[in-house]
Amino acid sequence: MNKLLEVRAASVSFSGKQALANVSLAAGGAHPAITAVVGESGSGKTTLLRMLLGFQHPTSGEVIYDGQPLTRMDGAAQKRFRREVQAIFQDPFDAFNPFYKIDHPLLAPLKAFGLSASRDQSYDRIEKTLRSVGLNPAQTLGKYPHQISGGQRQRVMIARALLLEPQIILADEPVSMVDASLRSTILEILYELNRSRGISLIYVTHDLTTAYQVADSIVVLHGGQIMEVGATEEVIHDPAHPYTRSLIEAVPSPDPDTPWNLNQARPPVLAPRDQVLLYPTGPHRAVAAPARAGEIAVTAAQIQLAVSQAKADAVVA
Ligand SMILES: Nc1ncnc2c1ncn2[C@@H]1O[C@H](COP(=O)(O)OP(=O)(O)OP(=O)(O)O)[C@@H](O)[C@H]1O
Ligand SMILES: [Mg+2]
Repeated sequence: MNKLLEVRAASVSFSGKQALANVSLAAGGAHPAITAVVGESGSGKTTLLRMLLGFQHPTSGEVIYDGQPLTRMDGAAQKRFRREVQAIFQDPFDAFNPFYKIDHPLLAPLKAFGLSASRDQSYDRIEKTLRSVGLNPAQTLGKYPHQISGGQRQRVMIARALLLEPQIILADEPVSMVDASLRSTILEILYELNRSRGISLIYVTHDLTTAYQVADSIVVLHGGQIMEVGATEEVIHDPAHPYTRSLIEAVPSPDPDTPWNLNQARPPVLAPRDQVLLYPTGPHRAVAAPARAGEIAVTAAQIQLAVSQAKADAVVA
């Protein structure tokens, strides 16, 4: 099955120090899903996203969009890539120019991509999109970035990405700067973008609990390497790699004597779907996918079968 955005066996080094080592994953395409990339600070999450956006060239390996390596795209393909793959960053304030009103970063991309015939049409579209992320256009437009709250700024950034009707949104710690109630609002918005609009998401976070809430699959990154990849339920309830286990054990609980309550079902709105995506795997998830390059879609039942089979094999071995 073709995936829209792929990174194949990519490594990145900074002054000889490896930040990413032989990383492969894919997103977008026929089955839009939410993929969480989870890892501690310095594990290479932002480097991975920057590479997927074409801002960071891999030292080896390649990034491919719709079958074409980013480095060999012509102008039209590059423009399409820039429109269809959008990013949301951790600190929305960084993304705004303090001298421009909020309107500016919303109008500019519509103009740059020729997506609206007139200013009135642009404003119609902007207002509709702002409402879709829970913002009141009258209380948002015409203001400077410092005149709205951090949570509102983050929603403006989501709206900005949406205006371009992206296929994929790459979100780097999009909720780590906002308070708990806003965190769930923004996660819900991102979740709905996937479920209702069919936008694929790569959700980068150090927070395993939010990954568990929203993601279909989880990629565990540690020291620039993928430690484990799998369907969310599988990775959280039956982690194969000791590092994943240590992340799960480290999740704080309101009661220090009781670990994270994994027996609690995921909220119904976030129930797993019948089809999940797996990617080329690290050594500890090889059990859950056929040993061939390229990404596949499998059902949860198939994974369960593959895992039981692998466990049986391990016992025999
Ligand atoms: N431009 C750069 N020049 C040199 N080293 C870099 C550069 N960008 C990242 N690194 C290094 O690469 C490693 C991975 O960094 P990265 O920012 O990808 O981590 P991260 O997982 O996003 O961390 P955090 O959770 O703190 O955001 C770190 O050791 C970092 O110091
Ligand atoms: Mg980062």
